[in-house]
Amino acid sequence: MSTSPVTIAVSGAGGNIGYALLFRLAAGDLLGPDTRVRLRLLEVPAGVPAAEGTRLELIDGAYPLLVESTVHTDPAEAFADANIVFLVGAKPRTAGMERADLLEANAGIFGPQGRAINDHAAPDVRVIVVGNPANTNALIAQRNAPDLPPERFTALTRLDHNRAIGILAHQAGVPVDTISGITVWGNHSPTQYPDLSHASIRSVPALAVVDADWASTAYIERVAKRGAEIIAARGLSSAASAASAAIDHMRDWVLGTPGDSWTSVALVSTGAYDVPAGIVSSFPARSVEGRWHVVAGLSIDGFSRTRIDASVAELIAERDAVAALGLLPG
Ligand code: NAD
Ligand code: LMR
Repeated sequence: MSTSPVTIAVSGAGGNIGYALLFRLAAGDLLGPDTRVRLRLLEVPAGVPAAEGTRLELIDGAYPLLVESTVHTDPAEAFADANIVFLVGAKPRTAGMERADLLEANAGIFGPQGRAINDHAAPDVRVIVVGNPANTNALIAQRNAPDLPPERFTALTRLDHNRAIGILAHQAGVPVDTISGITVWGNHSPTQYPDLSHASIRSVPALAVVDADWASTAYIERVAKRGAEIIAARGLSSAASAASAAIDHMRDWVLGTPGDSWTSVALVSTGAYDVPAGIVSSFPARSVEGRWHVVAGLSIDGFSRTRIDASVAELIAERDAVAALGLLPG
């Protein structure tokens, strides 16, 4: 058992994803059975009663690894000495709201939270943004944290990656662990591109196993619009699968990606695969010794290039919209 606990902050702790995430963090699903954790639950005042109820249930769970859980409304307190931050809380789009309004409303959250992480978190802090629009919220937080390396800010596209595996496995009638080499590129939005061109099923190219037309049309649409499909089915957005994917992302980041394959992570681009530097876009990546590395040298065919460019164009438009509002310092 390691002696010093790891401090994990979760914003939006009183919400649906918070409820699916916090008990798994307390149970050791992120860092394993030898690491104690301290949980910081961040909420807005209206969300405090729900977060407080969750805190009481965390106590009642009698989790051996859980040292402490506390509820906060001040990001400076919640992020103090945090090693790991899950930024889940965000402002949802409401009727009549334009995309620019949504970006502006969320910049009001992720700008100050980025600054608070910059000023108060532990020097080794790792941040994942889950709250939508996740990529651009991560960009805003990162640009408000000038003292931290940009690579410490990431956004969740592991849910899209897991969906891409699950839906392919279902179609091919194979177990999920026979699939490797999938990449989700671009934005966590319907423009994302789940790319099967390097994927394999039991070492056979996936595109030789499933119908090529299905792979280039219905499959892409199903994965990219899975969030909306779930909202339509259950009346709420995905929560347990989102929390599980966020844990997968952070566990791989800290402990390393297992095996020879890779996963999909939204990272601050350094220009790989002609994605403009500075935007937060999803790439194929492996984590080695606690750092994400974009998988180099994958061939990109014409179809893939068009799809990647379309999603990247949307990210550039989002970046330009928040920059025009004066929300990207530096
Ligand atoms: P929810 O509405 O159930 O919970 C959100 C919580 O965040 C609420 O309790 C709210 O009070 C809180 N909150 C709002 N502003 C806050 C702030 N400034 N600081 C701290 N807390 C704040 O929503 P949910 O189902 O938990 O989803 C949360 C977010 O995750 C949404 O934006 C959703 O669209 C997004 N999401 C992303 C993915 C992904 O793959 N990236 C998947 C699913 C959901
Ligand atoms: C998802 O992919 O499930 C969510 O991002 C959908 C949403 O809009 O909350």
